Amino acid sequence: MKDKVAVITGAANGIGRATARLFAAHGAKVVLADVGDAEGSALESELKEGGTEALFLHVDVRKEDQVQEMVDRTLERFGRIDVLINNAGITRDGLLVKLPLVAWHEVLAVNLTGVMQCTKSAAPVMIQQGGGVILNASSVVGLYGNIGQTNYAATKAGVIGLTKTWARELGTKGIRVNAVAPGFIETGMTAKVPDRILQMVEERTPLKRMGRPEEVAHVYLFLASDAASFINGAIIPVDGGLVL
Ligand code: NAI
Repeated sequence: MKDKVAVITGAANGIGRATARLFAAHGAKVVLADVGDAEGSALESELKEGGTEALFLHVDVRKEDQVQEMVDRTLERFGRIDVLINNAGITRDGLLVKLPLVAWHEVLAVNLTGVMQCTKSAAPVMIQQGGGVILNASSVVGLYGNIGQTNYAATKAGVIGLTKTWARELGTKGIRVNAVAPGFIETGMTAKVPDRILQMVEERTPLKRMGRPEEVAHVYLFLASDAASFINGAIIPVDGGLVL
């Protein structure tokens, strides 16, 4: 990762933050894109103190102009984009029969349209460079569904469709596109899930625990590296064997 430029959306917390720290530790220059200004700025300072070239940008992935600005400012500062990690994501859970339409649209806007917009803006840069890596956040829920997550499951299954489409479309330009499908990882997102559900998940997981954000970050690091140079269009589960 030495001197590679990695743009990470949703970088201010959870898996995104762990990924930014890991990429920085491996010598990457990192762009931290998030709506969380306080956490994003704090992470930028932390990484800079450690000697990393880090740039926090306020980016709402739902907003086309902010996404384009993210790409433009990255180019202004670092001159290229080697890795885009479409990590920003939200949940608005509810059983189908009670799901407000607004919750459907909110989750689609961030988890699906946001991923598409970031890739649409960054891909031309990678095409011009002659290569790059795009990594997307899917979920076991996108593969197997989950009670109370109609909207979220639709987006995470949709991300698999995007990943495979782009692996074909952009692969011909030297751009590899892959996704991770994490199980339950200890972050702010799962802190909202009731304890009894998390206990059930732990019982069902052969490793008998939830995952840590760093355990997903290491998979992103591998997929972004040349060690994964022939992996394209893959959806890698990171779930302790929860779904086999
Ligand atoms: P998190 O809630 O800890 O962090 C998400 C980050 O995304 C936050 O910093 C938030 O400010 C940012 N964000 C939200 N909306 C945004 C927007 N419109 N524009 C830019 N940034 C925005 O979540 P976590 O757990 O770290 O999840 C990261 C990704 O991994 C998500 O896509 C999530 O769906 C996925 N994932 C998480 C799992 C888990 O168990 N935690 C399991 C499977 C997938």
